[in-house]
Amino acid sequence: MKRYLALLSLLTACAFAGSLAVAAPEKDPLKPRVPKSERGAAKRLKPPYGSTKKAPADVIAEGKRIFEGEGTCVNCHGKKGDGQGPAGKALPIGPRNFTNCKFHKRRKDGELFWVIKNGSPNTPMVAMVKPKGPLTEEQAWKVLAYERTFCKDWKK
Ligand code: HEC
Repeated sequence: MKRYLALLSLLTACAFAGSLAVAAPEKDPLKPRVPKSERGAAKRLKPPYGSTKKAPADVIAEGKRIFEGEGTCVNCHGKKGDGQGPAGKALPIGPRNFTNCKFHKRRKDGELFWVIKNGSPNTPMVAMVKPKGPLTEEQAWKVLAYERTFCKDWKK
């Protein structure tokens, strides 16, 4: 009986810790991720709708659907975009916190698109565009428009 109670309290403690757990810290979120040799070209890539600063409401709405749906971004980046998704908590490097406006200000649309397409080298952020991932390039641009909305004032 004593053993059983000890086991029970251990299990309860684990479940409690699990629900409180937070993701590992991000790795230098302001440092560029696109390798130097490709960075210039990546910076020049533009969304089909012009710029994420001017993304139409229907593009953002579709991006949200993809983020929470077939894109699976929500699993790691979290519903609030704060990098605290359930799968993200198990990773050795924290997923990007998209509510951090300083991060958005440092990145061109094309650089973020490049990472969604190719992944962030040597991290758990893998390529999310076909053939390696689930999305088309058009969907990746839409999900990026939604991702930008987690920071409330980066457009200034
Ligand atoms: C398996 C977990 C996981 C999934 C799923 C995931 N990400 Fe990530 N993501 C990460 C991690 C971890 C990082 C941080 C990588 C780093 O530090 O370079 C990251 C970083 C990023 C970045 C930051 C790139 C930069 O320049 O710093 C963007 C943008 C991004 N993810 C977009 C997405 C989008 C869009 C999706 C869905 C289509 C997605 N991620 C799905 C784990 C994930």
